[in-house]
Amino acid sequence: MKPIPFNKPFIIGRELSLIADAVSRGQLSGDGHYTRSCNRWFEERLHCRKALLTHSCTAALEMAAILCDLNPGDEVIMPSFTFVSTANAFALRGATPVFVDVRRDTFNLDERLIDAAITPRTKAIVPVHYAGVACEMDVIMDLARQRSLLVVEDAAQGILAEYRGRRLGAIGHLGCLSFHETKNVISGEGGALLVNDERFVARAEVIREKGTNRAQFFRGEVDKYSWVDIGSSYLPSELVGAFLWAQLEQARAINARRMDLCSAYRKGLEPLARSGALALPQPEPAGVTGNGHMFYVLLQDLAARTRLIAHLKARGIHSVFHYVPLHSSPAGRKFGRVAGPMTVTDDVSSRLLRLPLYFELDEGDVRHIAAAIREFFGR
Ligand SMILES: Cc1ncc(COP(=O)(O)O)c(C=O)c1O
Repeated sequence: MKPIPFNKPFIIGRELSLIADAVSRGQLSGDGHYTRSCNRWFEERLHCRKALLTHSCTAALEMAAILCDLNPGDEVIMPSFTFVSTANAFALRGATPVFVDVRRDTFNLDERLIDAAITPRTKAIVPVHYAGVACEMDVIMDLARQRSLLVVEDAAQGILAEYRGRRLGAIGHLGCLSFHETKNVISGEGGALLVNDERFVARAEVIREKGTNRAQFFRGEVDKYSWVDIGSSYLPSELVGAFLWAQLEQARAINARRMDLCSAYRKGLEPLARSGALALPQPEPAGVTGNGHMFYVLLQDLAARTRLIAHLKARGIHSVFHYVPLHSSPAGRKFGRVAGPMTVTDDVSSRLLRLPLYFELDEGDVRHIAAAIREFFGR
């Protein structure tokens, strides 16, 4: 059996010919034909007020943090069970990440714990849609309205996933997507900032263009452009836009394929779940539609997970654990603080194991991986 990596970047169709087309169009810097096409796709399909392609979700989060207009000491509520960039973007602005525990079923920010974590310094809430499964956004948005807070969705894993008929990233004031090669729709590195609140549109354009009003200049709204605010270079080149455009054309098919693979995993591992050897992802909460971003299992404890990783590795199968909780990381301890116990976060992070999932994986591979896991448990 060939080795099975955890992830494999893929080409689904016209990526290379569209890159050639981008070159022949004579503009390789950002905001040409393909960047604009991608932005329009997000605006039309995700229903956001304005979409801006960025070179990563990290960049989109940094833009969002600037737009939140934070002062040193301001607080931003987020899960600890997330990727570094969720917190780093806000720490860069001098704000304090305040870590709240996650729910047992989805490993998303526990909306019931947010209220108690709010202080007079709280400025924003950052729900992270883990594995492309939505946070309880109605509760979070209501709370934000009552307490005059901003909501920045970290929808890095959430392309085309839904919460009560709305697309992830298009519900909060701002939303951030990732097209890193480990995501469903990819461009190597890549991301997008979704601006859902009109108040932030003009400033978001400026921040993305090194703090200049260049976008206005190109639209003919001003006769020269200059430095008007802080910002950085957050826009990707047309080459990235062209690659991404080819993938966006097939985004639904990509998600459908991944969801089929998740069903195949479920089928192959159901006997182990029934016997209590491991646990599978819980069904999505009511009104939530996922996108097949991830398939994971929960082992009994850290020791079992470590042994299973080694067992699979010996059979050429690469499985990986996920986040080291930010509240226990060196920078998390330095820049952030916890609000309440981190019971679920600590528990889940030690037992969760992600299994290979990528577009070119097939059902035969999944059956082989499931059989190797059953073998580990002596079944
Ligand atoms: C929840 C979350 N946020 C942010 C990011 C950062 O995305 P990018 O690699 O596009 O900067 C990731 C990437 O894995 C992520 O999983």
